[in-house]
Amino acid sequence: MLITKIYKPAEVEKAADELRKGELIAFPTETVYGLGADATNELAVKRVYLAKGRPSDNPLIVTVSSIEMMEKFATDISDDARKLIKHFWPGSLTFVFKIKPGTLSKTVTGGLKTAAFRMPENEVTRKLIELAQVPIVGPSANSSGKPSPTTAAHVYHDLEGRIAGIVDDGPTQVGVESTIIDMSTNKLVILRPGAVTREEIEEVLQKKLDTDHHEVGKDETPKAPGMKYKHYAPDAQVLIVEEGKWEAALNWAKKQPYLVGIMAPGIEEKTLSKNFVFFDLGNNVEQASHNLFAGLRYFDDKKDVKWILAAGFAEQGLGIAYMNRLKKSAGDQFFID
Ligand code: TXA
Ligand code: MG
Repeated sequence: MLITKIYKPAEVEKAADELRKGELIAFPTETVYGLGADATNELAVKRVYLAKGRPSDNPLIVTVSSIEMMEKFATDISDDARKLIKHFWPGSLTFVFKIKPGTLSKTVTGGLKTAAFRMPENEVTRKLIELAQVPIVGPSANSSGKPSPTTAAHVYHDLEGRIAGIVDDGPTQVGVESTIIDMSTNKLVILRPGAVTREEIEEVLQKKLDTDHHEVGKDETPKAPGMKYKHYAPDAQVLIVEEGKWEAALNWAKKQPYLVGIMAPGIEEKTLSKNFVFFDLGNNVEQASHNLFAGLRYFDDKKDVKWILAAGFAEQGLGIAYMNRLKKSAGDQFFID
């Protein structure tokens, strides 16, 4: 078994050496921690799927430190795309572009003619990629199906012994993953809602994005393949509690013969019952997004929690990404009065 080292930001050079040798290194971004491997090293990329237990038809994001690095692989970059890159990079917007044939292996792209590219804001990680001199794949650094990691400790918990190291730069800021926008066709479609909102993108482009978001049939190749898998699931069953339903939900929870996790803003009235385990989500959707995955993981350590009641937020702005992740973790189940 591998010993998983924790690297401080100042030790980023050592971590880059490991990447160059084909080892796996988890890295910080402003959204969630990613699991890095040299994107041009087929064997290294294969090991990412194994370490995460990820289905092999689910392609990986290619994480770059510069636009020039991306242009070695991506082609047909439109004027709109350039505008968005200029405005949002480095940052939490991921672009799907057509790739130059033969530049990225099937292991990275899952056999698609496109790939997803992202340049994260975190400076240590951009330094890491620069030093490694190759783009690195960057799926979230969790075991497949579990909540994405927002601290190095989360990564260690899931992947210890399976990866060479983790660059620890503290907790991530945003807490939900990047927004993925498809720029490989004439239609501009958000494939995954995320940290950058639709409104922010439309503001920069001065036009509306397409909303044609059709559900993927059983035999179709999905547009963002990862969206079809089970995701973000803690051990306990999550129930989403909409505004105005808390009183009924807490009354129900009090009567349960086991512990109930409560993920909500504010503390006082929600700690009234002995069988409640409370996790403070924060007071607005930004704080809730920052805390969501840590909260779901928190209850996994409390074995007797059978249900988690989690606060829903309005589906607008960042609330769209927050609710997208929360609904997946809950398998779409809401508390019903
Ligand atoms: O914030 C993030 O994006 C984080 C950090 C670490 O950068 N990464 C991340 O990666 O969330 P991952 O692998 O967990 O999610 C990538 C998503 C998956 O749903 C995958 O199916 C989709 O991107 N994807 C990758 N390549 C694609 C492509 N060519 N076309 C459409 N979707 C693609
Ligand atoms: Mg993921």
